[in-house]
Amino acid sequence: MRKIVIAGNWKMFKTQAESSEFLNGFLPHLEDTPSAREVVLCPPFTDLSLLSKSLHGSRVNLGAQNVHWEENGAYTGEIAAPMLTELGVRYVIVGHSERRQYFGETDATVNLRLKAAQKYGLTPILCVGETKQQRDEKKTEKLISNQLEKGLVDVDQTNLVIAYEPIWAIGTGETCEAKEANRVIGLIRSQLTNPNVTIQYGGSVKPNNIDEIMAQPEIDGALVGGASLEADSFAKIVNYQ
Ligand code: G3P
Repeated sequence: MRKIVIAGNWKMFKTQAESSEFLNGFLPHLEDTPSAREVVLCPPFTDLSLLSKSLHGSRVNLGAQNVHWEENGAYTGEIAAPMLTELGVRYVIVGHSERRQYFGETDATVNLRLKAAQKYGLTPILCVGETKQQRDEKKTEKLISNQLEKGLVDVDQTNLVIAYEPIWAIGTGETCEAKEANRVIGLIRSQLTNPNVTIQYGGSVKPNNIDEIMAQPEIDGALVGGASLEADSFAKIVNYQ
């Protein structure tokens, strides 16, 4: 019932030439990937046009890393939803902790971006998660519950993916224990009106821990950073047991 979605978030990595090289190594590995598994690549904006052409006819979906809430306007440096859909983009990451931490993203702007994405038929991947300090102070549940409550106002839960990304596990090699990720994701699900929302785990997902993560009953996929940059390692993740 719940869709499995494995997405690679390339962040600010890869020129077009590097993207092409990645695809040459990655696409042949997908021949045996179960068809029910959705595979998504979220490159930087500058690679979207190239990937849109290169992925045509493949089973890989294209995703973006952010979207503005207006259809167009004087918003230097921003990208609007119709610009993404024109390129065949299907998914968009919204509210990644790096956007919240470095670029002033708030639950209110996250909410606007989610609604704009959905208005144009994009599936947003809403990222939530706590810092190390918040976890140590036992504020994880409250923090995530707030992020969901404010972020999801008037958001359609039938076209939504959520990624639980504990900030302390991002790019650190320190993965959240699979059982603990499962517990938090269960709490996230209990706060949703639609129990069938796909909820991913993100944070130091690697080929050697994906099997255990995906064996958890509440976890429906992964949002992968570093390990999605290398064709062989992302292929191993997508082809988990
Ligand atoms: O969005 C994915 C992410 O933040 C996790 O990054 O490098 O820990 O897999 P990484």
